[in-house]
Amino acid sequence: MTSRLSAGETFLVHGGSSGIGTFAIQIAKVRGVKVFVTAGSEEKLAVCKELGADVCINYKTEDFVARVKEETGGKGVDVILDCMGAAYFQRNLDSLNFDGRLHIIGLMGGAVTEFNLGSLFAKRLTVQATGLRMRSPENKAEIVNEVEKNVWPAVVAGKVKLLVYKQFPLSEAAEAHRLMESSQHIGKILLIP
Ligand SMILES: NC(=O)c1ccc[n+]([C@@H]2O[C@H](COP(=O)([O-])OP(=O)(O)OC[C@H]3O[C@@H](n4cnc5c(N)ncnc54)[C@H](OP(=O)(O)O)[C@@H]3O)[C@@H](O)[C@H]2O)c1
Repeated sequence: MTSRLSAGETFLVHGGSSGIGTFAIQIAKVRGVKVFVTAGSEEKLAVCKELGADVCINYKTEDFVARVKEETGGKGVDVILDCMGAAYFQRNLDSLNFDGRLHIIGLMGGAVTEFNLGSLFAKRLTVQATGLRMRSPENKAEIVNEVEKNVWPAVVAGKVKLLVYKQFPLSEAAEAHRLMESSQHIGKILLIP
């Protein structure tokens, strides 16, 4: 992983019950990482806990920056996996430890924001945005190889499970999108061609 997340470190996953989040929690636990999650309901947080999350934060009722600080003795977490973008940008920087790494994979909370560059200097922070779409086929193939080598063994061993909330035939794609927009789901929504 480009975040260099390693055993003994702390990791905050926003949207812990999402398709991405449920996978990230489990793979981080396999690697000996302490996992923090945010989600918007107690039901979703309970699933995250079952998957191995150590610290579960309801972002609707709690300030995640304060809770992260409280749980880490004021230090902050080492790595954040973020799908909120602008809405969480400054608060994410405030939640990171020295040499912390913020990885942005989604912009659900917008793409434009203003922030204090000083917080990057003060804690030597790294901000990276990553995605699959803009990569060359060769680069995508490299990623698939790395996943096969480093992630797949944990799936085969049953240590990482894929949570599928519901499957739809491709002809019902609009229905699948409505479900995703409602955010009732926990884990993946599959479209079957
Ligand atoms: N860059 C990439 O390569 C890549 C790949 C796949 C996905 N993505 C992006 O990653 C994001 C998640 O994808 P997904 O497939 O896992 O979608 P998803 O299952 O719909 O996940 C979205 C999650 O965000 C949570 N959420 C909404 N508002 C939140 C807030 N204020 N704070 C914390 N969590 C919040 C929702 O949970 P609650 O109900 O708890 O709010 C939901 O679980 C999307 O933005 C997607 O575009 C990026």
